[in-house]
Amino acid sequence: MAEKQEEKILVTGATGQIGTVLTEALRGQYGINNVLATDIKKPEQDNGRFEMLDILNTQRIREVVEDHQITTVFHLAAILSASGEWNPQKTWNVNMNGLMSILELGLETTVKKVFFPSTIAVFGKTTPRINTPQHTVMTPSTVYGISKSAGELWCNYYHQRFGLDVRSVRYPGIISYQSMPGGGTTDYAVDIFHHALQHGTYSCFLEGDTRLPMMYMDDAIRATLELMAAPAENVKVRTSYNLAAMSFTPAELAAAIQKHLPDFTISYAPDERQAIAASWTESIDDQPARDDWGWNPAFDLDAMTTEMLTQLRKKYTQ
Ligand code: NAD
Ligand code: SER
Repeated sequence: MAEKQEEKILVTGATGQIGTVLTEALRGQYGINNVLATDIKKPEQDNGRFEMLDILNTQRIREVVEDHQITTVFHLAAILSASGEWNPQKTWNVNMNGLMSILELGLETTVKKVFFPSTIAVFGKTTPRINTPQHTVMTPSTVYGISKSAGELWCNYYHQRFGLDVRSVRYPGIISYQSMPGGGTTDYAVDIFHHALQHGTYSCFLEGDTRLPMMYMDDAIRATLELMAAPAENVKVRTSYNLAAMSFTPAELAAAIQKHLPDFTISYAPDERQAIAASWTESIDDQPARDDWGWNPAFDLDAMTTEMLTQLRKKYTQ
């Protein structure tokens, strides 16, 4: 009988908000020597194999994949919604050509499986705002959203045309205590906790009534691992799955924090990120993810708030 080949995993963008936590989870699941973290930024802590790797350096990516006989890529490297608007051409280049290199490696090397994170930024002003359906109108207004929307279509194309096992979810705004977000529009929902504990007050860059879909990091990591472990025949959406956990406004998040810190105050100074947030939808219908591979979130607004404050208090008193 042929020996079962060990999974060898490559994570791009591994030093970012999600990559930091996902890489640790993957190392726990597959073994520290079977997960190679890569980024153009060094990790704060040296917890395993890491290599500096620019996603635009296609020759080096191929060498890394071949040297390590990589079988699965979690392709997280990207420039997010707010930062992306500062340099649209660069954002398109990194987000689009980075993905195309990874998809091509899926045809020419040992890579057999790819995870591509999409986003609620693929939705736009013409998309239904409440309970946004899986299959709907998408006219994204940011270069980030355009690149992710095109990326979803390329993932579907490589699956249908070449049989590549590409899987994807549209993450909502991700909230975490382990790592800081980088250049997104939903970043306020992480910043607010740090300011609440350190200063007792927060000036929010979105208006108080801007409702957005959000998710606690534990749920995001579990969704990613569950989708990647699902039998291939269950994964029926090969563009990207809608994924939901909670939706709230900055005012509702502030009220949830005030249950723990009654003196906490919030003020609002909306900037250019307000227009981006206003172009996205408020809540997501993720029934296909629930039906196809059993998705079910564990954290709502109150559970997430309690957990964030508990974990960050520990961090600040260490
Ligand atoms: P992040 O900005 O924290 O991390 C992205 C990482 O990509 C960074 O560490 C950065 O150094 C790296 N990177 C940028 N350019 C690169 C290049 N040329 N080569 C190699 N690495 C490069 O973002 P994140 O929040 O961790 O997001 C990870 C993925 O998840 C992204 O694809 C993002 O679009 C997606 N996503 C995130 C959220 C969220 O709320 N965090 C929501 C939806 C989707
Ligand atoms: N959280 C991300 C952003 O705000 C959404 O993909 O850019």
